[in-house]
Amino acid sequence: MSKITLKNITHVYDKRVKAVDNLSMEVDDGKLIALLGPSGCGKTTLMRIIAGLIYPTSGDVYFDEDRFTDVEPEKRNVAMVFQFPVVYATMTVYENLAFPLRAKKFGEEEIRRKVKEMAEFLELTPYLEMKAGKQNAAIKQMTSLGRAIIRDARCVLLDEPLTNIDPHSRLVLREKILRYRAEKKQTIVYVTHDQSEALTLGDKIAVMNNGILLQYDTSRNVYERPASSFVAYFIGNPGMNLIECAFKKVGSKIVFESDGIKVSLPYELAKEVEKETSGKVVLGIRPEHIELSKRKVEEGMLGTCILFEDIGITKILNLQLNGTRVRAKNPEFEVEVGEKLYIRFPEERLRIFNSKGEIIL
Ligand SMILES: Nc1ncnc2c1ncn2[C@@H]1O[C@H](COP(=O)(O)OP(=O)(O)OP(=O)(O)O)[C@@H](O)[C@H]1O
Ligand SMILES: [Mg+2]
Repeated sequence: MSKITLKNITHVYDKRVKAVDNLSMEVDDGKLIALLGPSGCGKTTLMRIIAGLIYPTSGDVYFDEDRFTDVEPEKRNVAMVFQFPVVYATMTVYENLAFPLRAKKFGEEEIRRKVKEMAEFLELTPYLEMKAGKQNAAIKQMTSLGRAIIRDARCVLLDEPLTNIDPHSRLVLREKILRYRAEKKQTIVYVTHDQSEALTLGDKIAVMNNGILLQYDTSRNVYERPASSFVAYFIGNPGMNLIECAFKKVGSKIVFESDGIKVSLPYELAKEVEKETSGKVVLGIRPEHIELSKRKVEEGMLGTCILFEDIGITKILNLQLNGTRVRAKNPEFEVEVGEKLYIRFPEERLRIFNSKGEIIL
């Protein structure tokens, strides 16, 4: 088990596509980090660079304190599971699991013991003597996982391993990954574009977009203090409401205004925004933090419910406040489309971003 350090990694495909852009990060030994970002943001490219399957255009990969950038993939001892299961189709599940151990010249007795143990852990015992290529996607992916983790790798890279399998098997596989992790204290990088998976699994979350690492922090901080408006919108279901506002100082307060929106914050708390010379900032508030009331409340803004989405345990309201639309979540009372409500943004839940999208407050 090793610490992984990436130093200023950039990768450009065909001299044109910058898939990873000057990315630096450390994954501490024994930690599970979730790498999250939209399709095409460079997640797989980064995994392949760590595994040595791609040589980066610039930058370095370290395991513990040793530079591995020039070390061939076979000599890195990094286990990787891809989005699509990779098995030797004509070999049995047993032979697939045994393969990495044979390559490491383990004795037959030890191979048998380890394969048996792994098969029991992954519930693959009934399939051991069957051809891997004939199994369904879930069994194949379980076999790929087993093959990756059967030898003690330096670290494990999981690139969206659950995407292409059925929902039930997805839960089973996820539980296996968590158990494996708890037992072995392995360093794991788990790539996903499912944010709830990232938020629940990772010790830390790395959010990427356009090859850039936007934030690398605990799930709590990524949710509560998103580094940028992109992260604020990307994390959350639905994401944070982002409202472009003008601002001005009025007495001991700073007042933020947009069509239909008027919010104020104490000057002492919000004075940082005065550095924003454009005169505009983006106000952020999560749907679940918006307070709703049928009766007039202090500092309440009047809005109309224009759409009510009831998706099981989650109810989402679309509210129109003059020219501004916001989403709120899970009202404590029945709301009908067309109904007018008083809407309040609690001060402590407001986030403010500058015109470049970086967090100010
Ligand atoms: N072999 C390649 N040649 C040229 N461009 C590539 C190659 N592989 C990936 N790219 C491009 O590099 C960028 C990053 O791709 P990558 O596959 O790393 O993204 P990703 O985050 O893994 O996406 P997904 O979530 O869809 O798997 C994309 O613009 C992609 O089109
Ligand atoms: Mg990918």
